[in-house]
Amino acid sequence: MAQPVSGFSKKTKEQKIQWLVENYLDNDPSAIVVLKRYWNTNTDLQKLHDDFTENALTNYYLPFSIAPNFLINNTLYAIPMVIEESSVVAAASNAAKFWLDRGGFSAHVISTKKNGQIHIDFFGDPLELNTFFTTIKPILLASIDTLEKNMKKRGGGLLDIVLKDATSSLDGYYQLHCTFETKDAMGANFINSCLEKIANTFLDEANGYALFEANKEYPKVVMSILSNYVPECLVRAEVSCHVNQLSNEEMSGRAFAEKFVRAIQIAKVEPRRAVTHNKGIMNGIDAVILATGNDFRAVEAGIHAFASRNGAYESLTDARIENDHFFFSIEIPLALGTLGGLTSLHPLVKFALSILQKPNANDLMKITAVAGLAQNFAAIRSLVTTGIQKGHMKMHLMNVLNQLDTSIEEKEKAVTYFTKNTISHSAVVDFIKTLRS
Ligand code: MEV
Repeated sequence: MAQPVSGFSKKTKEQKIQWLVENYLDNDPSAIVVLKRYWNTNTDLQKLHDDFTENALTNYYLPFSIAPNFLINNTLYAIPMVIEESSVVAAASNAAKFWLDRGGFSAHVISTKKNGQIHIDFFGDPLELNTFFTTIKPILLASIDTLEKNMKKRGGGLLDIVLKDATSSLDGYYQLHCTFETKDAMGANFINSCLEKIANTFLDEANGYALFEANKEYPKVVMSILSNYVPECLVRAEVSCHVNQLSNEEMSGRAFAEKFVRAIQIAKVEPRRAVTHNKGIMNGIDAVILATGNDFRAVEAGIHAFASRNGAYESLTDARIENDHFFFSIEIPLALGTLGGLTSLHPLVKFALSILQKPNANDLMKITAVAGLAQNFAAIRSLVTTGIQKGHMKMHLMNVLNQLDTSIEEKEKAVTYFTKNTISHSAVVDFIKTLRS
């Protein structure tokens, strides 16, 4: 029976491992071996990783892969992707190659504004709050002068503060809605620091305000935090070609384009399909976000909220045929950084950014959106032609063979056999059993 522990974070790494193994792993010595096997032999590097979070015990590997041949706005990129799903990088690479021969991807950033809110309770006269806000707005803006000095030098900073009356949604609920430009930083720390400073200034000013004092009704700050919903930080990526350039072994270019457009239309109107459709897009997006040390939870939350902006969850991509041309695009909110956070700390993140030729945040937004579009193209292309399992299982074959502890010879034989036979877990197990008998 495990016991509660106090002061756990103060223990050394060895002590934490010992405690874990004693309390949850039946004192199994092999558990310690597993954890230590993933330690880096370079102690400085290991210390760097240990310091990323509290109570780190070891490292957790994910493959760091490359999807080459991405032509984006006439520049050729090799995109680093960190993801465990076997078929994702192969699909991205295929889509990149496909569009390389058809003019590549184009992408542009539509807007780069981020935002945060100071959530306020006020049960007095709304006009009083309005007058108060208008009077002290210059003081609020000035209160973060020191905080935003460096950001201003880089062309960013606080853009505006607006008082929003949200009492129709929740009694007594107002917001100070703050808009920011954070240039190449994702900006979460900067925005949160600014919001907390503005909130304190707001409270200080409210304390001495005569009208509030007269009615004994003061505004209160509930909380101050950035929003990961960033519909004003938008990027668009697209591809297009003549429908004839889409022909394949299965069907004519026009038939393919029509079926493809139909698949997108279905994901526009059917949320159950849209979720899986967008999950495929996120396969590409998350992989780039992870490789470049950005916050994939923030991006996920923001993108899925955006997918629901019209009242129902729908596809993030659009496709149409016009004048015999096929057009396929994505428009998504992406608050990314190439400065600060893990970007200058994690050696592999720095490496990924070097591969991408040290992009600024706008470039990274474009590259990431393209990765999402390419992933969706690859998925829909498979779905409306051969089906997804052929390619997926081909990539998954190695995982199954590894689970079965196969030798190099067995793997080679299996790969040859399954080029002509349908892959399933049980088919692979049977094949290896027969081979070994
Ligand atoms: C699998 O990870 C992603 C797909 O399901 C996406 C889709 O269905 O569009 C193939």
